[in-house]
Amino acid sequence: MRYGYFDDNNREYVITRPDTPLPWINYLGCQEYFGIVSNTAGGYSFFRDARLRRLTRYRYNNVPFDLGGRYIYLRDDESGAYWSPSWQPTRHDAERYSCRHGMGYSVIGSTYQGIRAETCYFVPLNARLEVWRVTITNERLKRAAVSAFSLVEFCLWDAQDDATNFQRNFSIGQVELDDGVIYHKTEYRERRDHFAWFACSGELAGFDTQREAFLGPWRGWDKPVVVEQGRSANSMAHGWAPIGSHHVRMLLEPGETRQLVFVLGYHENPTDSKFDPPGSQIVNKKLVKPAIARYRDLECVDASFAALRAYWDETLGICQVATPDVHTDRMVNVWNAYQCMATFNMSRSASFYESGIGRGLGFRDSNQDLLGFVHMVPARARERILDLAATQLPSGGAYHQYQPLTKRGNNDVGSNFNDDPHWLILGVAAYLKETGDWSILDEPVPYDNQPGSEETLYGHLLRSFQYTLDRLGPHGLPLIGRADWNDCLNLNCFSDTPGQSFQTTTNKEGKTAESIFIGGLFVLAGKELAAIAQRRGHTSEAASYEVASRAMEETVRAHGWDGEWFVRAYDDFGNKVGSRECAEGKIYIEPQGFCVLAGIGLEDGIARKALNSVRRHLATPHGIVLQQPAYSQYYIHLGEISSYPPGYKENAGIFCHNNPWVIIAEAMLGNGDAAHDYYTRINPSAREPISDVHRCEPYVYAQMIAGRDAPTHGEAKNSWLTGTAAWNFYAITQWILGIRPEYEGLRIEPVIPERWTGFTATRRFRGVTYKIRVERAGPGNTVALSVDGKTIEGRVVTPPANGKAEITVDVRLGGAGA
Ligand code: GLC
Ligand code: GLC
Repeated sequence: MRYGYFDDNNREYVITRPDTPLPWINYLGCQEYFGIVSNTAGGYSFFRDARLRRLTRYRYNNVPFDLGGRYIYLRDDESGAYWSPSWQPTRHDAERYSCRHGMGYSVIGSTYQGIRAETCYFVPLNARLEVWRVTITNERLKRAAVSAFSLVEFCLWDAQDDATNFQRNFSIGQVELDDGVIYHKTEYRERRDHFAWFACSGELAGFDTQREAFLGPWRGWDKPVVVEQGRSANSMAHGWAPIGSHHVRMLLEPGETRQLVFVLGYHENPTDSKFDPPGSQIVNKKLVKPAIARYRDLECVDASFAALRAYWDETLGICQVATPDVHTDRMVNVWNAYQCMATFNMSRSASFYESGIGRGLGFRDSNQDLLGFVHMVPARARERILDLAATQLPSGGAYHQYQPLTKRGNNDVGSNFNDDPHWLILGVAAYLKETGDWSILDEPVPYDNQPGSEETLYGHLLRSFQYTLDRLGPHGLPLIGRADWNDCLNLNCFSDTPGQSFQTTTNKEGKTAESIFIGGLFVLAGKELAAIAQRRGHTSEAASYEVASRAMEETVRAHGWDGEWFVRAYDDFGNKVGSRECAEGKIYIEPQGFCVLAGIGLEDGIARKALNSVRRHLATPHGIVLQQPAYSQYYIHLGEISSYPPGYKENAGIFCHNNPWVIIAEAMLGNGDAAHDYYTRINPSAREPISDVHRCEPYVYAQMIAGRDAPTHGEAKNSWLTGTAAWNFYAITQWILGIRPEYEGLRIEPVIPERWTGFTATRRFRGVTYKIRVERAGPGNTVALSVDGKTIEGRVVTPPANGKAEITVDVRLGGAGA
């Protein structure tokens, strides 16, 4: 069952009924000011940091699930009927409801009793504000008298404190009203230099800033007394819960359309000129007034919306494909790329499953996310890499996370995840291959943000690599530390205390438990590092990384091969995890995918064997589960993984993040049918017809789909902020379609399904547009290339020396190719 459809030409997903199985959301903003908006206008906004600079309040895990947002109420001033065009919060049965989630904007509207209304929400480029452009049309045969009320509930900035510290917070709320603009200035009187403002383009009939006055006693958002009575209370908030609401009255002739704009903004004043007049307690509004004036102007709003659309056309235009598969095209050209940008902006901090108060930017996560966005925002990827590296510890290890506002690492979710440092090597390699910007390696970067500790970024990479060499276990495999990629495989935790964090508790010294996954990761990182060193002219250094990488490969083969698949780990007792010797959790996906990705066993058939085992034991129609058999009980020596009921999350859920590792592995072995088949199983667009089963948005990946052991097999959870986005984008574009940036140029090596007759692609790479036409000449994956009509040797197209801005690459695939 579907709840909407893809409008591919407009790059929108159109939701046609409001009661989606879960809120289906979108993101607003792509620089500093961000918002989350659901299909019924729920959500909130923040400036840069979802925890520390929260502009509007949102109550997670609400009933119904999604309540509180950017609401408009309309009222028929003759009949007294009132409703919300976004369905929530009044939930009237309106006609022609639709929500169009587009690139950085959402348009939500409906028609009620002949009044058509829709609101376009977006954050203009280079602005610290959001616009709600409301379009109201009278479709009745007679004149209509309509009132519009806007509504936001302000958050008292620190979202964690806002949700808990009521003894203080109920007394501190402050607002001002000036020229129809509502200013939210809680704590501005003391140490904050920032405030929020909420303006309207129309002439005001009234306003409200005190929640209690707007709603009336004992009422909810669905029945505000002010809207019911058609008259604002002109309330000023003193403590309790400051809100912002404007009231505008309109007379609409039959067929007449009116536009109204509401603007919610964030502003910081210089500390020494916070007040006007100086010495008063009144907010200095001089610096913010130009922005207010600009965005109250409808023409300027239209122009800024057009600029936003142009920005996304340009950004997504960097990589566009036309294949025989609509789901592939849709994800590559629009939604998967867009989701990669959301993970760039949010990491794992703010979604409808991440509360914005818990998680900062993850070291491991952000480095992997680079794979998906480096081609779209290379300059910002560069900055991100340097920020991440600056939180690295002198040992080469990493804080697991850092806060975007301070860019400082924190130990809130522990450290000593022994895989962390290697992702920096892979992230930097991806950046170098995309941009060819070798200068980044010479940037001086501190450790743990300590001035004076600077070393080149290249030096950081060496410490990343050394980190594992300094931490080898009894078999010569990498010690796992707190966990590796699988946060929940906690082999040194041994927690028996309820509520204790698996991420920060350690009861073992950590000298025994080893990870074959990190082994595979190390082999790959070693190869990448050697390639980088080689190109910097450090030949003998390069050789030493290759040697270390090869030695680890031998160790993995000797102690990490179980006969039919790769073992997952050794536990604190020295027993295998993920082996046929185990009663449960006999086979795990991660080492199969990653060891093959690292090139282990490609030649002698063990890679093929491992992937066959994946197919036999782990593949389901909804994707590949993390391990089998699921753990039926809690095992103290395995940790959080066994805390989840069977089939959910890391305990045999389909953890979509690691499925692309197998997809890539199949592609590396030349099996395009299998690779694309696995790709399709978790492709959200391909799952759209079963939206009632899948339940999350059909346009973005979710972190997890319930595995076959779960009673709700096929049900997705935790959409949007997941490494799944980057890895799938990387798998489909670089390995299946085979358009792969390398140091010397763009490699073109498709491994597509046999039945595909070909595809075309446009890829901008280092300033040159590559027009790529792939035609299948026969079965197999052989490749013969010609560039602008001339046959070339090999599979790597180097950037043209003659300054050409565009080249055409013809690819003859299969049959009698080279
Ligand atoms: C979550 C984490 C990621 C981790 C994965 C597996 O997605 O963000 O860092 O690798 O879970 O546990
Ligand atoms: C929890 C989640 C896991 C995630 C981790 C991050 O353990 O189950 O998926 O990676 O938190 O802190």
